[in-house]
Amino acid sequence: MALLSIKYSRGNLDILDQLLLPTQSKYIPVTNSEDGWNVIKKMQVRGAPAIAIVGCLSLAVELAEDGEHSTVGDLAHFICDRLQYLVTARPTGVNMGEASKRLTSLVKDMAAESGQTVDTLRERFIKECEDMLEKDIAVNKNIGKYGADHLLTVSKNQPVKVLTHCNTGSLATGGYGTALGVVRALHEREKMSHAYCTETRPYNQGSRLTAYELVHDKIPATLICDSMAALLLEQQDISAIVVGADRVVANGDTANKIGTYQLALVAKHHNVPFYVACPSTSFDPTLASGKEIKIEERASEEMTSVKGVRVAALGINCWNPGFDITPASLITGGVITEFGVFSTGDLKARLADCLKMDS
Ligand code: MRU
Repeated sequence: MALLSIKYSRGNLDILDQLLLPTQSKYIPVTNSEDGWNVIKKMQVRGAPAIAIVGCLSLAVELAEDGEHSTVGDLAHFICDRLQYLVTARPTGVNMGEASKRLTSLVKDMAAESGQTVDTLRERFIKECEDMLEKDIAVNKNIGKYGADHLLTVSKNQPVKVLTHCNTGSLATGGYGTALGVVRALHEREKMSHAYCTETRPYNQGSRLTAYELVHDKIPATLICDSMAALLLEQQDISAIVVGADRVVANGDTANKIGTYQLALVAKHHNVPFYVACPSTSFDPTLASGKEIKIEERASEEMTSVKGVRVAALGINCWNPGFDITPASLITGGVITEFGVFSTGDLKARLADCLKMDS
């Protein structure tokens, strides 16, 4: 059975509380955009694509029951305001911001059309949010397909060993996953010789979530601490490192979970190709380089305590950036998208062409 982190039907949204995994699988209801903001902020749902989907669906369920907004202008204003609010929950991933921009412009255009009613505007908005969930799974399957095709071409169809970081699977997306989608696709073809996942300190998305997904899907896999990557690459014949992305900017620099940059450096030293796997919605052409990306800093408790138990010396100062920026020059394999695998240098132009053809 597929892992389901988001359960949705018109007017109802439940999310799997990722803070309780892997020991408890509990779904919690999200009834409005305020709940949506809170579950994103607390990281009960996380992963850039899942954040955007849950954020938008939280507003869709709020509107499904809405009787408060009696004019088109009033409803449009409410939706745009709530979308803006949802973006503020977590700043680094671009997907929620991109969805907010797209939906805001759709809602504004619709509100300006004559003959529009509160019901037609609401229905269209809800449908757009529902489509995001459907579309994300299809997009991820294509990322998996292109990534697997590419890695198997490089390996001359021999089974591969892949190292991944953080959690980019069903739990971080609408389903299937991005970087973990590539691992899944290779496993489906019986070409995943072995997957390695990092623990991903300080919040352990690797040991809590990725390891859980790998075990769930019975993919041969081993967990390592983040500090073991260099030795792993030295001792094992790792075919590729494949990670996800929270934001890829115009020049290909990529924001992803803290620890990604050091993996890319280690990969370069060991001549192991380094790939970023992400949907085109993670691409942000409005920023020229990674220096412009705002990196979220999280509470020091994520470092000093594990499940409420203090593990760091009392009184120590902490620095807890949630993400780092991997320069495009270290993304040596390329960027795996739903349209194909592109070099960082070609990414902007190739994605623009693909998106034009797709629309
Ligand atoms: O802080 P998180 O857990 O929301 O981090 C996001 C991630 O899982 C990643 O950095 C990931 O690679 C991108 S989302 C598929």
